[in-house]
Amino acid sequence: MTVLDRMDGWATRLAAQISDGPDGYSGVAGDQQWADEIRRLLDLRGATLLAHNYQLPAIQDVADHVGDSLALSRIAAEAPEDTIIFAGVHFMAETAKILSPEKTVLIPDQRAGCSLADSITADELREWKSEFPDAVVVSYVNTTAAVKALTDICCTSSNAVEVVASIPEDREVLFCPDQFLGAHVKRETGRKNLHICAGECHVHAGINGDELAAQARSHPDAELFVHPECGCATSALYLAGEGSFPEDRVKILSTGGMLDAARESNARQVLVATEIGMLHQLRRAAPEIDFQAVNDRASCKYMKMITPAALLRCLVEEADEVHVDLETAALAQRSVQRMIEIGQPGGGE
Ligand code: 13P
Ligand code: SF4
Repeated sequence: MTVLDRMDGWATRLAAQISDGPDGYSGVAGDQQWADEIRRLLDLRGATLLAHNYQLPAIQDVADHVGDSLALSRIAAEAPEDTIIFAGVHFMAETAKILSPEKTVLIPDQRAGCSLADSITADELREWKSEFPDAVVVSYVNTTAAVKALTDICCTSSNAVEVVASIPEDREVLFCPDQFLGAHVKRETGRKNLHICAGECHVHAGINGDELAAQARSHPDAELFVHPECGCATSALYLAGEGSFPEDRVKILSTGGMLDAARESNARQVLVATEIGMLHQLRRAAPEIDFQAVNDRASCKYMKMITPAALLRCLVEEADEVHVDLETAALAQRSVQRMIEIGQPGGGE
């Protein structure tokens, strides 16, 4: 009897209700019955489900592991299961495939892209490298496999500073694609020979400094957690610098770092500048704290394409499978492997 034969009844009837549209698959509610079925199908397929901190609450709650990009990459590299289902965006699932080429890696909707990963192509990076032939290339994990294949070391927001600090001082560094994370790394390392690409994430760039300043001034006792991809990270440091917000209450953190900071915080209120899916894990980690989004419209449409319907379809149809050609995967694996060896991921492991 095959896995599909055992998917009788409820799962197939429910799957028949799924419809497809520009925002992804819909038609299935993420309720308890759905969650029980997802867990049953994961067992039947011998699969593990990894979910990023920006996923819908129902997806996070049914997952085996929830975490930031670095934590999930490490878990994917070590998972004993033969099948990894990645509830996140495409570059994350691709990174899991690069680390475990022998495994089946599925993403519930392969159209879940990333505006930041789209901000540099392999050809553009190749051209940039030709201007600085001796430079070390550091790429954010939010890049395609082809860009990773041209990279010396990948990083995530939780280890970008450590990755750059690990490079000998006299070597020039090309950092791509996120300009705001690059500016954060430059500030933290004080490095002059760091060249930064001009890419950005449309969600984080949209959390602007004016909004942040207004919120910070009207909540003077709150702490402020800011993701380094945010355009407003500089404003947050400026507010602290000019004394209008105490410096020790401003924290520039990866999504996993925010969870660790939440567990340690004594604050009653925290203003959060990142994608709003993050609020779910923060509220679970520290239920006594009042977490408020700096911009409650900061929702990533790509992350939200991983719907309850998409996850059910993924398990029933064993789709969408992620493929990376072997030559690209072998080259990319070196830079991703270096990434997972450096620094501590925050929350999620
Ligand atoms: P981290 O989980 O590494 O903080 O990354 C956030 C992100 O932007 C993923 O899209
Ligand atoms: Fe990409 Fe931004 Fe969405 Fe993260 S939040 S997946 S960086 S578009």
